[in-house]
Amino acid sequence: MTDLPSPRISDLARGHSPQGAADYLSGLNPEQRLAVETTEGPVLVLAGAGTGKTRVLTTRLAHILATGRAKPWELLVVTFTNKAAREMRERITHLIGPSAEGLRWLGTFHSVAAQILRRHSELVGLKSSFTILDTDDQERLLKQLLEAANIDTKKHTPKSLAHLIDHWKNRGWTPEKLPPGEDFANGKGHALYAAYQNRLATLNACDFGDLLLHNLTILSQHADLAEEYRRRFRYILVDEYQDTNVAQY
Ligand SMILES: Nc1ncnc2c1ncn2[C@@H]1O[C@H](COP(=O)(O)OP(=O)(O)OP(=O)(O)O)[C@@H](O)[C@H]1O
Ligand SMILES: [Mg+2]
Repeated sequence: MTDLPSPRISDLARGHSPQGAADYLSGLNPEQRLAVETTEGPVLVLAGAGTGKTRVLTTRLAHILATGRAKPWELLVVTFTNKAAREMRERITHLIGPSAEGLRWLGTFHSVAAQILRRHSELVGLKSSFTILDTDDQERLLKQLLEAANIDTKKHTPKSLAHLIDHWKNRGWTPEKLPPGEDFANGKGHALYAAYQNRLATLNACDFGDLLLHNLTILSQHADLAEEYRRRFRYILVDEYQDTNVAQY
């Protein structure tokens, strides 16, 4: 498929086609158009690679804004990679112009989660200035904990523990919620995980998995905040939805 030039909403506000439809809809096929114009209730777009799913999502977002259904800051728009988030912002800017800057909740799951966490970090024992550890920092810290517990780090590597903890976090499991069957190094999994979380708290730090997990903790323990965000985000748009894990969901 080729990229059709997309009109801007600023032009669109004036330009309605004879059928009464805005011009930005004219580049869509009937199925895409139906998905874009179905603004109420959940909509799942299931289609093959490169068939125009992201185009539906960005046009739907433009449609929601153009028809006054929400303000840019009332939309939660998430995708997986920084590249995808950047491209999405570019496409939307192309469609709606500078008002796309108001889309302050558009980004990757992790960047949006970090934004929310900065506002409420004290609820999970962090200062808002918390640092986010990268994989190397994370593995260094885990190595210290493994050595302190006299565990052979050649046999039970920091990297494998990091993966496992990440997996647990993606499932929404804090140490307290870790199911009994989940383990590392013969019965030490839970203690290591708990020690790791304590170390992170002491360092006023979190890892990538925590960005989502802490959000989950905050929103599940504070119904008033959950309600506030539920009200704030009038629409939630998720690209690559099939890849969402439990914590992201
Ligand atoms: N109805 C259409 N008419 C013409 N071009 C289209 C149409 N829909 C999508 N395209 C173009 O097809 C290309 C792929 O679209 P898009 O990126 O939205 O697909 P996708 O399903 O999200 O792809 P991926 O599976 O890679 O995420 C883009 O260049 C887009 O502008
Ligand atoms: Mg896409």
